[in-house]
Amino acid sequence: MKNVILVVDDDKTNLSLAQRILGSQYRIAASNSGTAALKYLETHRPDLILLDINMPEMNGFEMMEKLRSDVHTESIPVIFLTADSLAETEIKCFQMGAMDFVTKPFVPDILLSRVSKTIELDQYRHKLETMVDIQARKITEDALRLGRIQDSVIIGMANLIESRDGSTGKHVKNTQTYVRMIATELLSRGYFTQELTPTYIENLCKAAPLHDVGKIKIPDAILQKPGKLTAEEFETMKLHTTHSRKIIQTIIGDIEDAHYVRLVEDIALYHHERWDGTGYPAGLTETNIPLSARIMAVADVFDALYEERCYKPPVRPIERIMQIMSEGRGTQFDPVILDVFVDMLPQLKQILEK
Ligand SMILES: [Fe+2]
Repeated sequence: MKNVILVVDDDKTNLSLAQRILGSQYRIAASNSGTAALKYLETHRPDLILLDINMPEMNGFEMMEKLRSDVHTESIPVIFLTADSLAETEIKCFQMGAMDFVTKPFVPDILLSRVSKTIELDQYRHKLETMVDIQARKITEDALRLGRIQDSVIIGMANLIESRDGSTGKHVKNTQTYVRMIATELLSRGYFTQELTPTYIENLCKAAPLHDVGKIKIPDAILQKPGKLTAEEFETMKLHTTHSRKIIQTIIGDIEDAHYVRLVEDIALYHHERWDGTGYPAGLTETNIPLSARIMAVADVFDALYEERCYKPPVRPIERIMQIMSEGRGTQFDPVILDVFVDMLPQLKQILEK
């Protein structure tokens, strides 16, 4: 199929000359004014525009500005036509974004050569852009796929670690669900809006499954002990937070971005801190405890009470869990987060009934 060239020139002699020179190789559309050409371009997309500079009503430069400011025409290559061979005119043509410049009267071979080279160049540019687009899409898809693989490996690993204490393996997924619910609800109620950006919430949910990875270093005798831990055993158990941080640094410290690694470390290290400063390992108080860990603390305790563990039966009904947790309002938990969580009881029931 022949390439289409739109020739815009107010001089009919030039239009027919262009038709004679180019007509055998290209399909020519002719317009004798910028206005007529713009009208034509509303419904057509030529492969090249030959644009006369000196035209009454709208000159070539004015028309070029209109072409470049419209997404439908901005990428159509343009060759300016003019009887004027001044260097300034030529410079202006290129500054306006023309691909080339042809002086009138036309020399047939020069016009043909410039036109064919410009169309060829534009086709290469188009092919290159398409290839870059395809590659960029492929890279994005590969990155997403790798991200999904990484996420499922992390969840699988976390599940494996959790299963050591005889829990049902739901803790990892459940706490991730509660963390997302709490963060989303806090944001919708206007709390912590500076911190709870969409990226932060996504990272928070991605990080949540890693909160207890340090339990891998806790002996089975302590993890699986059916009764209450002795003071010494509890001291060992408390170390899972610092173990978690070390493990996280080892497994994702070099491959993930620093903000995300920090978020995962905060959750792992501080999810047993308490609002009143009596938690572990650092004894941080109130908002000195990172927001991520304050949210995780609520999700973690709720799930621990809801699910059966080797050392305790599940607590029922859910209202009783909320009652127990409310006793920790302002002592164990951030009061704002706890209040929002307690208000979410109907949504929680719906999820748990499923
Ligand atoms: Fe923990």
